[in-house]
Amino acid sequence: MPSKPILTIKGLTAGYTRLSVLHDLSLQIPQGQITGIIGPNGSGKSTLLNAISGMIRPTAGKIILSARDITRLSPDARCRLGIGRTFQVPRPFARMRVFENTLTAAAFGLASSRRDSWEAARAALAKAHLLEKKDVLAGSLNLLDRKRLEIARAISARPGLLLLDEIAAGLSSEEVTEILEIVAALKAEGVTIIWIEHMMDTMLRAADTLVCMAEGRVALTGEPEEVLRSRAVEELYLGRLGEEAEHADGGTPAGEV
Ligand SMILES: Nc1ncnc2c1ncn2[C@@H]1O[C@H](COP(=O)(O)OP(=O)(O)OP(=O)(O)O)[C@@H](O)[C@H]1O
Ligand SMILES: [Mg+2]
Repeated sequence: MPSKPILTIKGLTAGYTRLSVLHDLSLQIPQGQITGIIGPNGSGKSTLLNAISGMIRPTAGKIILSARDITRLSPDARCRLGIGRTFQVPRPFARMRVFENTLTAAAFGLASSRRDSWEAARAALAKAHLLEKKDVLAGSLNLLDRKRLEIARAISARPGLLLLDEIAAGLSSEEVTEILEIVAALKAEGVTIIWIEHMMDTMLRAADTLVCMAEGRVALTGEPEEVLRSRAVEELYLGRLGEEAEHADGGTPAGEV
């Protein structure tokens, strides 16, 4: 039985100055679960996270967090209400140490005492398996550690809702397993997670519910196995591959013999 929603999105239309990306999108995110989001490149997955975290303002629709309308709130206000996010391309302060990076996020997001921010940063680094490297400069971290730091910064303000944008992309299978463990432990603590990832096997292992987006809309939502087996998802992905194959066969590029 699905639990009650922590987040409700109703009729959301949003995008960028010259481009409308999300079209009348409605979605409910059950509390305490991992909701996976898949969908072809450019289907609006990251834009959806931008709209939830307040980085873009919708032109229509509502975003409700635990019965509170947050549609018009700023990103920092949403952060303080318990929404944390990671970015598809990690953006640490390269010349600051891992601990300072996390402390900055905690201090900003919690707006509480120095001691509390310090403890929150330490706890976040431990949960992201990065405490051992707390004194390393963020700019010198490898990809897995940058991903861990991205998680640590996002959870440092103790969010109830965590948005992960391709946090496992580019990692080896052992590294992906470690990210899965970190995320599973956060879920076990009660954090609700929305996780965008292209890797279907990772989504199968992690997600309780899977949402497939296409062209700024929800194409399908349901049990992960069911969604991945569906004809609609197959066509979305294979249709695209088919198109690419057609173009590849379509002739010799100019200049080639
Ligand atoms: N900052 C931006 N300004 C203008 N257009 C943008 C911006 N970010 C994304 N877009 C455009 O919005 C559309 C949706 O992009 P979005 O990044 O949400 O897709 P996505 O589903 O996350 O794709 P991917 O799987 O490649 O990460 C694309 O056409 C993209 O070019
Ligand atoms: Mg994206």
